[in-house]
Amino acid sequence: MDGAVVDPVPYVPYRDGPRLRSPDEFRWRLGLRPLADDAWFEFGPGAEELIAAKPGLMARHGDTVFATIDDGITDESNELAALVEQHLARHHSDRAALVDRSLHPLDAAARLVPEDLVLLVEREGRLIFGGGSVCFPNRWDLRSKLGLTMAEVHAPVPRLNDQLADPIDHALRRLDPARSFWRLGWTLIDTPDHFTPVSSIGKRPAEHAAPNELYVRVERETLRRLPHTGVIVFAIRTYVTPVPAVIAAGGREELAAAVAAWPGDVLAYKGLASAAEELVRYLEQASEIDNIRLKIIDNDAHRAVNRRQTIITE
Ligand code: HEM
Repeated sequence: MDGAVVDPVPYVPYRDGPRLRSPDEFRWRLGLRPLADDAWFEFGPGAEELIAAKPGLMARHGDTVFATIDDGITDESNELAALVEQHLARHHSDRAALVDRSLHPLDAAARLVPEDLVLLVEREGRLIFGGGSVCFPNRWDLRSKLGLTMAEVHAPVPRLNDQLADPIDHALRRLDPARSFWRLGWTLIDTPDHFTPVSSIGKRPAEHAAPNELYVRVERETLRRLPHTGVIVFAIRTYVTPVPAVIAAGGREELAAAVAAWPGDVLAYKGLASAAEELVRYLEQASEIDNIRLKIIDNDAHRAVNRRQTIITE
């Protein structure tokens, strides 16, 4: 397996925003927040396993996990590599390292951090997907995205462009080197593996995954414009946590509500139609059982208090 699961779940994006009552209220959210200078990359739980997995993935699946547009985006990648070295020296001195100059600078920079790195470049007046080192794709194909605008990249995601194409475009155009941002994305998946490329049948539906075999997959995404070439760096840090661990951490009701609010087309895109329905039923039942258990504990506590009071008054 490439990458390790993390427990507890480090972010709970399904708790953000209003609690939805039905799929009619569903909306994708931009959710950009200001990013502190020292928080570009996260060397927290699971980071070592992700970094350790990269050389092997490059060796085995080089053409799937690394690609650039024809011009090689060399100037932009060189700027990124220099900045990653500088950033590590300044903010993570224990990890300070030099990029391997025998590799493409984007590949070399990405091997020093747990994040996947994508570069957005301006070509002929269009902001396009210039290339990436994406060792941990969530079932999308890096090569098929080369040269596409953001709206084109997001075309397979139902409702996304209607709701967010303009806000995404606006945020990217206005991105200033002095003010970076981050956001969270999340989904469910039926494997703990972090390297989940597109299979020949497209998104593999998790039809037969039992609720306790599902994983919450959270992406912490950062957006940063580099000052010299103007390239935008989109960095994606992936965290995978088993659903039972999410439940144990107390996130059951929010998770059930969030999954129940995914409309049919979104579920189909995620390949989760039947697995999600079963998960919601399971989470709601578990909630019922827990409520009953809490009531019993509550009643027991009452009886104990009453007994004590009886003893005191005796
Ligand atoms: C800045 C705001 C952005 C928002 C709000 C956003 C939102 C999303 C959402 C909601 C999904 C669907 C995820 C899922 O539930 O499975 C998605 C997929 C994706 N996003 Fe973004 N995204 C943003 C920026 C970007 C950028 C900058 C890139 C790349 C440069 C990117 C590349 C992708 C790709 C490749 C997919 C998978 C599409 C597929 O299945 O073919 N996104 N994005």
